[in-house]
Amino acid sequence: MIKKGIILAGGRGTRMSPLTKAVNKQLLPIYDKPLIFYPLSILMLANIKDILIIVNKGQLNQYKKILPNGKKLGIKISYLEQDKPRGLPDAFVIGEKFIDKKNVAMILGDNFFYAQNLSSKLIENTKLKKGAKIVLYKVPKPELYGVAKINKKNKILSIKEKPKKYFSDLAITGLYFFDNKVVNFAKKLKPSKRGEVEIVDLLNIYKSKNQLKADIIGRGGAWLDTGSIEDFYKTSAFVSAIENRQGFKIACLEEISLNKKWINKKQVLEAIKFYGKCDYSNYLKKLIT
Ligand code: DAU
Repeated sequence: MIKKGIILAGGRGTRMSPLTKAVNKQLLPIYDKPLIFYPLSILMLANIKDILIIVNKGQLNQYKKILPNGKKLGIKISYLEQDKPRGLPDAFVIGEKFIDKKNVAMILGDNFFYAQNLSSKLIENTKLKKGAKIVLYKVPKPELYGVAKINKKNKILSIKEKPKKYFSDLAITGLYFFDNKVVNFAKKLKPSKRGEVEIVDLLNIYKSKNQLKADIIGRGGAWLDTGSIEDFYKTSAFVSAIENRQGFKIACLEEISLNKKWINKKQVLEAIKFYGKCDYSNYLKKLIT
């Protein structure tokens, strides 16, 4: 079982300036909560309780105000800084000590998932013992993402980062599961032409060893990558529509912890005090009465 997870939540967020001049992108709102709540909820739903959040240099205090050390959620959150965006696999170099001898999951801080049976799918993926696993999702504009081509048996035939020429419409989402070798593989990577180490190069190492597997989120699920202001709007509208129609909140961290019995009613009351009078607190109140 993978019990450790990394959220890569650094980056300069330049595409969203001036919003990101003073605030990290992952702390900006997606409807009624900061973006970071959504990827964190995904790791929690996967029963991952030991979480490293990698943030931009100088922005650690912002995160600690909203997510101190995880104790209030019955989990453990630690932080490390990335001094500049060296690329996604840099997370495994920065997180070497945290990962230790264990296998690890990683989610990008700007990724949003919502799907039926997502929890059981996630837990299934944490059973990975050897190799790596990626999660794919069909999109109309694959050229914006890492892309994978698979055969009928879900075997990965090839993967490319933001291919100019069409070869598949399956985007590689920002949720990955790795065995412990990822640390050494990540250390060996050389930066690409754009000056960053590339996640597809890392995945290709596993692929060359026949150890890269794919899981697919079907058309009943949603995956959104919130890279631009337009994406923030669209994702917020999606969350608003679901939450207001169903009355359930997406990514209510205390609700997940309470359901998993990682916290009790008393801790939910403390959370209500912490958040103050707001819609999120009203929702928490309903959970315990
Ligand atoms: O969202 C899925 C896509 O994410 C994948 O399909 C691509 O294969 C993968 O390369 C990545 O593409 P993006 O263009 O979305 O990556 P971006 O540079 O925007 O970074 C994604 C998040 O990771 C963002 O929240 C910032 C953070 N980040 C990024 C880099 C390069 C860091 O914290 N540190 C970094 O060094």
